[in-house]
Amino acid sequence: MLILGIETSCDETAAAVVRSGREILSDVVASQIAVHSPYGGVVPELASRKHVEAILPVIREALDRAGCCAGDLDAVAVTQGPGLVGALLVGLSAAKGLAYALDKPLLAVNHLEGHMEAAFLDKERPEEPFICLVVSGGHTSLYLVTPDGSSRCVGSTRDDAAGEAYDKVAKLLGLGYPGGVIIDRLARRGNPAAFDFPRSRLEKGSLDFSFSGIKTAVAYFVKRYGPPVPEGKGETPYRLEDLAASFQEAVVDVLVEKTLEAAERYRVRHVATAGGVAANSRLRERLEEECAYRRLQLHVPSIRHCTDNAVMIAAAAYRLWLREGFTPDPLDLDAVSRM
Ligand code: KG4
Ligand code: ZN
Repeated sequence: MLILGIETSCDETAAAVVRSGREILSDVVASQIAVHSPYGGVVPELASRKHVEAILPVIREALDRAGCCAGDLDAVAVTQGPGLVGALLVGLSAAKGLAYALDKPLLAVNHLEGHMEAAFLDKERPEEPFICLVVSGGHTSLYLVTPDGSSRCVGSTRDDAAGEAYDKVAKLLGLGYPGGVIIDRLARRGNPAAFDFPRSRLEKGSLDFSFSGIKTAVAYFVKRYGPPVPEGKGETPYRLEDLAASFQEAVVDVLVEKTLEAAERYRVRHVATAGGVAANSRLRERLEEECAYRRLQLHVPSIRHCTDNAVMIAAAAYRLWLREGFTPDPLDLDAVSRM
């Protein structure tokens, strides 16, 4: 079962050919970071235009690297949502065109189900039930995946996603975009206990998150002590590494705490994480320690497959096929920004 996956929900144009949900024959990602960097965040209109330019070369490269031609494919899988609607439409239109021209089934995939699939690309999927923390630039939610294969959201952010908080704090500090990986790198040389930022725990028993408070706390910190001074232009009155590490520790504390609480409440033995922020070194380290201590089995994607990619879309489509049988989606399918 050879599936071409296509992903254009945000700022990566991606295509991949995956055999039977597992064997990655190609994995192509064209990043738009350089385009959005000057704005400190994704500009939706620019994202759509760049997807239009990149989509056909990226698909062609995915087929070439896989050593196959379009006619060898058994199906075309594509992200239907959630995401930026103009960006989604580019991938969806390309996928529909291909499916129609090849007379092959079109398979629509939920981007978040794709992210979750990434945790099991190179190892056996555990028996359900399990808890998955999906944590990215657009989403921060806890899912309970049940034996019938469906996922129920048991907690979600009420304001910013964790990745969004990373990106906004990095912008505030003039560090560049996307902020997560920059803060992660700085934090490795910092003291996480240097500054005490708030951990938003909401009401007792809630598995929801809130990250807008910590972003505001960093804004107040910068207002009080001043923004980082560029190199050669004086001295910053605090260690930027300490600020990064303290901010990160507050975010990771809450993510880990709620994930473990969910695992305990739903009595699962397996915990997974996925999405761009799952690439964070401190989050991975803390989850490993805490899960080992509680004898929970932890499943994390490779760093490459944490951020947006098309392998996860092809793999999720294959699972959907195993679970629900092969029902092609109609060619008048629309993109859905919120799913
Ligand atoms: O999954 P993704 O590529 O796109 C969405 O679906 O949102 O996630 C991108 C997010 C960005 O906010 C980025 O800053 C964050 O993931 N991110 C990280 C790291 N790498 C990427 N956040 C923290 N630490 C990282 N190492
Ligand atoms: Zn994503």
